[in-house]
Amino acid sequence: MLTASGALVKADIMRACVDLRNVDMAKVPTARIDKLLSSLGYGSRNDIARMARAGAITLDGVKLRDVTKRIPVTPDLPACMAVDGAPLDPLAGMVVLLHKPLGMTCSHKEDGALVYDILPARWRQRNPAMSTIGRLDKQTSGLLLLTDDGDLLHRIISPKRHVKKTYHVTLARPLNGDEAAIFAAGDLILAGEDKPLAPALLDVMSETEARLTVTEGRYHQVRRMFAATGNHVEKLHREALGGLSLPDDLAPGQWKLLGADDISMIFQG
Ligand code: URA
Repeated sequence: MLTASGALVKADIMRACVDLRNVDMAKVPTARIDKLLSSLGYGSRNDIARMARAGAITLDGVKLRDVTKRIPVTPDLPACMAVDGAPLDPLAGMVVLLHKPLGMTCSHKEDGALVYDILPARWRQRNPAMSTIGRLDKQTSGLLLLTDDGDLLHRIISPKRHVKKTYHVTLARPLNGDEAAIFAAGDLILAGEDKPLAPALLDVMSETEARLTVTEGRYHQVRRMFAATGNHVEKLHREALGGLSLPDDLAPGQWKLLGADDISMIFQG
């Protein structure tokens, strides 16, 4: 273990695989190994005790036999700890950017394969659980975030934050020409609602294609906005959330973990 001043001190378990000199160890939480691994979906505490007895859990290359011990949960832990020879899964507070393919659902209430099925099966057992940050319809593709960080999720979906969502829309019929003004006015009321939508920005790309940026996340919002103008959305793809864009090299069904810099982009732009 390192002290706040950066000196190595004797500890039950030496953590030396990554330089922790910039980490204030006084602020680093500790966790029992069995509880930590169980919260990451590796099984019950009994399962984890069994795995440790079989030598399957290592820290800095050393087999951990006593999983009732507490260890500092430093950010580098996934790189230093291994289970069955593979690096530990990301710690709580993870954010995944998924290129949602068409035909998969975000909700257990809908029929069909779930977006969670794309991620490692063990992640379904994590506590806190992963959930999508907002939803995309089954027939919408594009940028979808998932996290186990409830505070972050609420900050992103909170109407007060006005986080922008940008969609590429392909329409069944040519645009009328007045859609940009209608959406920008901030007085469009969707069928079955009484509160007008916040102003939205329409950037026309062709007769039947446009980029639409909205700051709300109402049910089927984009499809209903175009339905209100007498059109029909044929294809819908989310390109960006705030200043965070779907990377060009991330194919449908692929995902990546986000770092702090990527996450801060969501609140920019
Ligand atoms: N608006 C929609 O209509 N559907 C989505 O999936 C997202 C926004």
